[in-house]
Amino acid sequence: MGEVYGGIDAATIDAMMAAEQAHYGATHPDAAARAGAGLPGFYQGVPMHWMRDWPMPFPFIVAQATGASLTDTDGHVLADFCLGDTGSMFGHSPEPVREALTAQAGRGLTYMLPSDDALAVGGLLTRRFRLPHWQVATTATDANRFALRVARAVTGRRRILVFNGCYHGTVDETFVRLIDGVPVNRPGLLGQFTDLTADTRVVEFNDIPALEAALADEQVACVITEPVLTNCCMVLPDPGFHAALRAVTRRTGTLLLIDETHTISTGPGGYSGAHGLEPDLFVLGKPVAGGVPASIWGFTDDVARRLDAARAATPAGHSGMGTTLSANALTMTCMRATLERVMTVEAYAHMELLAARLYAGLSDVIAAHGLPWHVVRVGARVEFICAPGPLRNGTQAEAAHAGPLEQAIHLALLNRGVLIAPFHNMMLVCPATTAAQVDTLVAAFADVTRILAQGKVTVGTV
Ligand SMILES: Cc1ncc(COP(=O)(O)O)c(C=O)c1O
Repeated sequence: MGEVYGGIDAATIDAMMAAEQAHYGATHPDAAARAGAGLPGFYQGVPMHWMRDWPMPFPFIVAQATGASLTDTDGHVLADFCLGDTGSMFGHSPEPVREALTAQAGRGLTYMLPSDDALAVGGLLTRRFRLPHWQVATTATDANRFALRVARAVTGRRRILVFNGCYHGTVDETFVRLIDGVPVNRPGLLGQFTDLTADTRVVEFNDIPALEAALADEQVACVITEPVLTNCCMVLPDPGFHAALRAVTRRTGTLLLIDETHTISTGPGGYSGAHGLEPDLFVLGKPVAGGVPASIWGFTDDVARRLDAARAATPAGHSGMGTTLSANALTMTCMRATLERVMTVEAYAHMELLAARLYAGLSDVIAAHGLPWHVVRVGARVEFICAPGPLRNGTQAEAAHAGPLEQAIHLALLNRGVLIAPFHNMMLVCPATTAAQVDTLVAAFADVTRILAQGKVTVGTV
């Protein structure tokens, strides 16, 4: 027997992929003519190499996107459940953000000084996320880097701890993996000659004894984690995991950084707000300014006091934090509009309702075909995983990936009018998503799985 992915044999997957690629090519003549051989002038034919990681044989060109819909230059209107992999989690060009952009357009975009909007944003962040001190950066990567630097500065410790399978942006010190139980630099890193495992410890998510052992010598400045692992196949925390994580970090004088960049899907205050987590440091990027590049990082009074002391004890010079365009006027006005008028309780109620509908629809389809797959959800963020669940850690999540199968499904969904995230099987519901779009996605998924299941080999062979 040949290879099997998620209970589906490779021959069936290959046949689906070939048919879908042919269909895509035939239905995208404009994209084929203009981008088929790559966009001129760009390395690898795209302005960012990740744009090659989609399952299409060549990228389509976006004409416009509004709300939860995206139109390409061949005239296809897609229901967008990728939403820029969370950058547009509140929909494309939300009206309040559009208004803010327009109003700011003639008032200057960046001046390295606070604007009126900055006066408002500090209070909005403090009230929403219940931390007293905030800074603004441009990407979640930056925010995590700066927050980790602060953690090291205030604890005087050089090491950090990550959970296996994590992703916190291109933060070098978090690129560590456990492979066969051994910490190594994450495979695939380019130009990285430092052994990152020297200062980064890595244990499995949901493994409290391993965490206790790794923090016991009190040499770790900070644990950085998402509340739910979303950057591998999604892993939910065991009941009691977060309480135990908080207890052991406090006991060992280790700071806790919660990165809510994806789990802001949970509710207006993120997963931390919904579940009463008490991080020392908090990071949120991607959608916080409605799609305009921005991130925020916040911390407690205790961290602020210790930071003051660390700064006082350090010779004057560059802190190693900040980038020139951080907190520019354009960012601040869009962030204010997003916090005040987009990330509302009503918006989340809508997202929650439709995400639950999506979760139920996909689960029913999987059950109807008896496939060894499952669906997982954190608020507005839904993922189908082509392996049995629930998954408990990064090693299991890595093993659950069914690359060729996932690629074929993604392209087949696209050809049926639905876009989902390219790196994993993630779907986001935004305030503009309609019930009809959710039903279109479920119907497309049903059609694709029906075709796959017809050629399916022994279930449970993953
Ligand atoms: C949890 C988390 N943190 C940080 C980042 C980095 O965000 P950015 O690429 O915008 O810097 C990501 C990106 O996917 C993420 O998922």
